[in-house]
Amino acid sequence: MKGLFVTGTDTGCGKTEVSCALLRQLRDSGVDAIGMKPVASGARQTAAGWRNEDAEALITAAGVGVDYPLVNPYVFEPAIAPHLAAQSAGVTIDPAVIQQAFRDLGRGHELVVVEGVGGWRVPLAQGLDVAGLCMSLRLPVVLVVGMRLGCINHALLTAEAIASNGAELIGWVANQVDPAMACFDENLETLRERLQAPCLGVLPYRSMGETWRGNTAPFDLTACFDT
Ligand SMILES: Nc1ncnc2c1ncn2[C@@H]1O[C@H](COP(=O)(O)OP(=O)(O)OP(=O)(O)O)[C@@H](O)[C@H]1O
Ligand SMILES: [Mg+2]
Repeated sequence: MKGLFVTGTDTGCGKTEVSCALLRQLRDSGVDAIGMKPVASGARQTAAGWRNEDAEALITAAGVGVDYPLVNPYVFEPAIAPHLAAQSAGVTIDPAVIQQAFRDLGRGHELVVVEGVGGWRVPLAQGLDVAGLCMSLRLPVVLVVGMRLGCINHALLTAEAIASNGAELIGWVANQVDPAMACFDENLETLRERLQAPCLGVLPYRSMGETWRGNTAPFDLTACFDT
């Protein structure tokens, strides 16, 4: 397996947090993993060009020098739906460009953790959405469930959509975005019962300034490496 595609129940569900935690765990266990954010909307201008926070977080989490445009080939300034950001920039997102960047990253590293944008059905261009991008990269999917009221419905619908595209849902992560969520354990149990794929782990709520660096291996990645 050359990579994992991290999607989520929604924007803001914790794809970047989980991707970074995955990268740190993989690297701590000796896997030369690197992150990729193929399409990002929301960026700031720097001397080196446009930079997106998610792409930068993935680069920091992997902790190895990498060519930014390979990590984030499509970066748009406004934090709006990516197909609209691309349209207003006069750019057409081309999956072949992303495939090439993915291959280039994969040549230098053992595994690429690819963070999607928004959720599974987010449009990227005419006839292309996140699902299509994932399929074009032929990657197994990790679904991040942002644990909040309504997440069961979002998680089940997303899992159904992933299956309908013929992609492989290799596992899911429960991300505790809301420290005050009522019935957290019961919700987790319901997700375990109803999602076909294994739960790779629970990423606990992290208060400001804390990192999970000290937490040893929050995820059980056996399912990912068995395939
Ligand atoms: N386990 C957690 N504990 C505390 N805060 C969290 C946790 N997971 C996510 N967050 C916070 O919630 C916000 C959204 O998380 P994150 O950026 O990882 O989501 P995302 O799915 O990557 O969003 P996007 O769709 O913008 O890429 C961030 O401010 C992040 O720090
Ligand atoms: Mg993100």
